[in-house]
Amino acid sequence: MSRFVPVELKHASRLLNHGPTVLITTRDEHIDRRNVMAAAWSMPVEFEPPRIAIVVDKSTWSRELIERTGKFGIVIPGVAAASWTYAVGSVSGREEDKFNAYGIPVVHGPQLGLPLIEEKCLAWMECRLLPATAAQEKYDTLFGEVVSAAADEKAFVAGRWQFDDDTRNTLHHLGAGTFASTGRLVRANISSD
Ligand SMILES: Cc1cc2nc3c(=O)[nH]c(=O)nc-3n(C[C@H](O)[C@H](O)[C@H](O)COP(=O)(O)O)c2cc1C
Repeated sequence: MSRFVPVELKHASRLLNHGPTVLITTRDEHIDRRNVMAAAWSMPVEFEPPRIAIVVDKSTWSRELIERTGKFGIVIPGVAAASWTYAVGSVSGREEDKFNAYGIPVVHGPQLGLPLIEEKCLAWMECRLLPATAAQEKYDTLFGEVVSAAADEKAFVAGRWQFDDDTRNTLHHLGAGTFASTGRLVRANISSD
């Protein structure tokens, strides 16, 4: 049962705008398997309809599952999920279920039934894979349309992230299991002088 609150789809691009490391989740009902991997490379590409891009290497099992099922989930981990993020990004789920292996609880997505994570995490999206472009084969870049999104009600308010304490911050991968977390807010001076 989800404890997150729905995010209006017109605000979905903001969930990725600042470049957090994400978890990509997948599920194939036909073989009764599910999976999760870490991804540092993702970005919004369109406001409405909300569309995003992810880079998923051909060697991953996630890539195979996404292309076979035509859907994927995006989970945005908080700082408390740094070890899960590194762990699921370091082994393949082909042989064993990483959710079980690392004790990661899931909720089920309302539109596509994807496994999503709320524990230690701040937001999620369910996406339908868009038809393949040349970039998919050549640059491993997959495009998806966001069909549902939800977030921790204190972390994402009225279409904006609120990074106001030590726990509600996203992860940004620096390499080799080291992350930076979101820091202080910097406001542009929008007056005319
Ligand atoms: C922090 C982090 C970020 C990563 N970013 C990406 C990425 O953007 N794209 C990618 O293809 N692999 C990325 N990886 C590697 C995959 O998560 C890794 O290959 C994973 O084991 C694939 O799992 P799977 O075979 O179960 O799909 C990243 C790994 C880590 C730890």
